[in-house]
Amino acid sequence: MIMQLAGVPRVSLCNLPTPLHEAAGLSRALGGPRIFFKRDDETGLAIGGNKGRKLEFLIADALEKGADTVISSGSVGSNYIRMSAAAARKCGLESVSVLIGEMPDEIQGNLLLDQVFDSEIHVINEPTNEFMCKNAANPNLVGDIVKSIADEKRKEGKNPYILPGAGFGPLGEAGYMVAASEISDQCYDLGIRPRYAVIAAGSGSTMAGLALGLKVLNTGIRVIGIDMSRLRTIEAFTERIVGTARDTSEYFSLPVTLDADDFELYDYAGEGYPTPSPEAYEAIKLVAETEGVLLDPVYSAKAMAGLIDLVGKGKFNKDDIVLFVHTGGIPALFAESALVENLNPKEIRIINV
Ligand SMILES: Cc1ncc(COP(=O)(O)O)c(C=O)c1O
Repeated sequence: MIMQLAGVPRVSLCNLPTPLHEAAGLSRALGGPRIFFKRDDETGLAIGGNKGRKLEFLIADALEKGADTVISSGSVGSNYIRMSAAAARKCGLESVSVLIGEMPDEIQGNLLLDQVFDSEIHVINEPTNEFMCKNAANPNLVGDIVKSIADEKRKEGKNPYILPGAGFGPLGEAGYMVAASEISDQCYDLGIRPRYAVIAAGSGSTMAGLALGLKVLNTGIRVIGIDMSRLRTIEAFTERIVGTARDTSEYFSLPVTLDADDFELYDYAGEGYPTPSPEAYEAIKLVAETEGVLLDPVYSAKAMAGLIDLVGKGKFNKDDIVLFVHTGGIPALFAESALVENLNPKEIRIINV
């Protein structure tokens, strides 16, 4: 697989390999299995996260095509938008962000950082979840708006490159085949043979790339995706993952592709995207208190809530090794106004002198 990716243009944006370490405190608190974290929250680009790996291939493609501007689309709180703006800036490109969702009262988290990168921001001011679901059924909704912004840029004499939403497609998935290869090497070095890898699934592209890479490398690690948004049914989501893996496999002439029974997908979306579930808050608290690791309320905490629930349901044996792929999203913690009341922390004691 590495051979197939060897000639593919790629820019260096991330600190790789990201760490892979045991989460013994969490395993103990849950009463097994052995849990290890793959720390893709530490990819390094502008506070890190999974999208950095995808952008290494996507921004390289933009540069190959002579682009001077990248246009990225996602939700108002999107990590991908934050990271694509950072990646564009690092590579000397202009950044345009097309955001879906209501503007919050206070500009915080990813949206604040988009402004730090001085991205040109356009907002489709519609209810986030409703519009994301509509767009999942008909991607032209956002696609047409993005195309018209690209036309405007061309009229201004620019050469825009439209990034695929969520980094979906072969180039984005190449980033997660690289991650699969890293995981395979790190497990070999640590002398462990994980049975499962648990990961948040939004568009499904990250898990598709990971599962495909792990299959090509014959690691025997089965990917469990946690649907944290419910933009579509599990059946439709499964088809989407199989479909994009097939496209990726063909694009890179890989010897295998993914079948539906190569992975598992579970719905832990709660009230849907981007609303955190009560279980996600509990997961944030548990992982902070047992591992000193931060989860984000939209993606990684729901994925962890799924993992915790599956442990409770007896999905894993006590001596199984389960990788939790932490996909980042940390800036969303700062934009979550309900965080403190849901975590119920100790009262702050004021000292009056
Ligand atoms: C922090 C985080 N985790 C997971 C995901 C899901 O990635 P994908 O859309 O490739 O399924 C995203 C997507 O935006 C994300 O920002």
